[in-house]
Amino acid sequence: MSKQEEKISELIAKRAEARLGGGEKAIIKQHERGKYTARERIAMLLDEGSFEELDMFVTHRCTNFGMEKKHPLGDGVVTGFGTIEGRLVYVFAQDFTVLGGSLSETMAQKICKVMDLAMKMGAPCIGLNDSGGARIQEGINALGGYAEIFQRNILASGVIPQISAILGPCAGGAVYSPALTDFTIMTKGLSYMFLTGPTVVKTVTGEDVSQEQLGGASVHASKSGVTHFATESEEEALGLIRKLISYIPQNNLEETPLVDCKDPIDRLEDKLNDIIPDSPKRSYDMYDVIGAIVDNSEFLEVQRDYAKNIIIGFARMNGQSVGIVANQPKVLAGVLDSNASRKAARFVRFCDCFNIPLVTLVDVPGFLPGTGQEYNGVILHGAKLLYAYGEATVPKVTVTLRKSYGGSHIVMSCKQLRGDVNYAWPSSEIAVMGAEGAVGVLYAKEAKTHENPAQFKLEKEEEYRNLFANPYQAAKFGYIDDVIEPRNTRFRVIKALNMLATKKQTNPAKKHGNIPL
Ligand code: HXC
Repeated sequence: MSKQEEKISELIAKRAEARLGGGEKAIIKQHERGKYTARERIAMLLDEGSFEELDMFVTHRCTNFGMEKKHPLGDGVVTGFGTIEGRLVYVFAQDFTVLGGSLSETMAQKICKVMDLAMKMGAPCIGLNDSGGARIQEGINALGGYAEIFQRNILASGVIPQISAILGPCAGGAVYSPALTDFTIMTKGLSYMFLTGPTVVKTVTGEDVSQEQLGGASVHASKSGVTHFATESEEEALGLIRKLISYIPQNNLEETPLVDCKDPIDRLEDKLNDIIPDSPKRSYDMYDVIGAIVDNSEFLEVQRDYAKNIIIGFARMNGQSVGIVANQPKVLAGVLDSNASRKAARFVRFCDCFNIPLVTLVDVPGFLPGTGQEYNGVILHGAKLLYAYGEATVPKVTVTLRKSYGGSHIVMSCKQLRGDVNYAWPSSEIAVMGAEGAVGVLYAKEAKTHENPAQFKLEKEEEYRNLFANPYQAAKFGYIDDVIEPRNTRFRVIKALNMLATKKQTNPAKKHGNIPL
């Protein structure tokens, strides 16, 4: 064997060693836990054969606790770049088979390198997390590594899309990197996120709680809203990332690529003419409206199980990616509350960061009243949504389907919040409040002294409805641009979006605004 051949064999052997991560036994254990390895995950995530690995030969520099005797190649994270449907993405995947995927100084440096490349090249960065947290043997150097990652997450926010999948443990301060990214995906039963684990919880508060109850995927999908998606399997999680990427651009200066649209743009949906029930107290399903107006009825819902009174997600209209925000009359009558406001506000801001037009479907009776909400700061949370819509400069098309009362009318992308095109269905009621509430305030004294108060109230409510419970008051002042037939909604929204394609609007120069956090 020539010297060159020897060197090449050594390279091949080293590559093979690096690819084994923590070794065959650790890989078997990882599979027994029901989890894939970092490299298997990357292979599922990216286009076949597109992955180019970086820093395969990096090793840690720790000399404490016997670490000087172990130098696993790659040091517990696989990093590099590849493509999803031909589009460039950067990826890092923590390798639990190597020291539990724990984060060392050098692992952080590897992660930071791909984050820096993603920023320079203007491409999404995807993190696959599966780690025991800071590498205990490295102490403060591991913490410093986390901080370096967080700083990059912050600077990249709003510049490149950042997506985190949690495919195993993610505990302690480590949770803050995913929390700083745009979307988090968790796998049910296999992943968990919490600041302090069950043992510490028990010691400090006496509360007995399992890992799953404290920070499992279902909990974060439905109760805390920390995760945007909870999937049944890793395959589903990785497939979901591919799908999500298809709706978003590479960076804040680009648009999402147009997709060929075979669904006729002038498709009339007669069922929408009948969808609003005669009684204002009866509900209907907003998903039926969304399905009827978007391309091929395809809707990628975000935070499906959290604050279900508002629906957010991505769809396409005439092949263009749009962000849909819609009140859901089937849940709490579509009322806005703290959680719904926060959920929608963050989504509106994501779409605005990344040039994705907003289509808002309104049927909202108001903000949820009561001490529960007020003590919870609904004023601030509602203000977040108001701020997000008012600040957004992407094309904004709003369709009011039925109720649009009071402050919630303003918040839901009204004309004065720089709504570009605001349409209403003939069934809409755009007013300060509903008929019952208004009559209760306006005629409280008269009703008390009237010989037939019930009849009196009904008459006054009817009078109020005739005057205000319609779209024409708002249309009279130009707050609504047109009253449209429901079955034409798809066509009218697409025409509005086409018209708005060249929209340019800027906000006053400032360091940054002070959104009511
Ligand atoms: C070093 C670690 C490690 C860590 C796990 N390992 N976590 N090594 N630092 N943080 C090692 C284990 O010693 C073991 O090594 C291997 O990884 C696999 O771990 P197991 O315990 O065998 O796996 P499992 O039973 O599945 O349990 C996984 C686990 C547990 C629940 C994550 O390992 C665990 O509790 N680890 C400690 C978690 C933790 O407290 N981390 C620090 C959090 S504070 P061998 O050689 O036996 O295979 C933190 C601060 C971040 O992260 C602050 C950021 C700002």
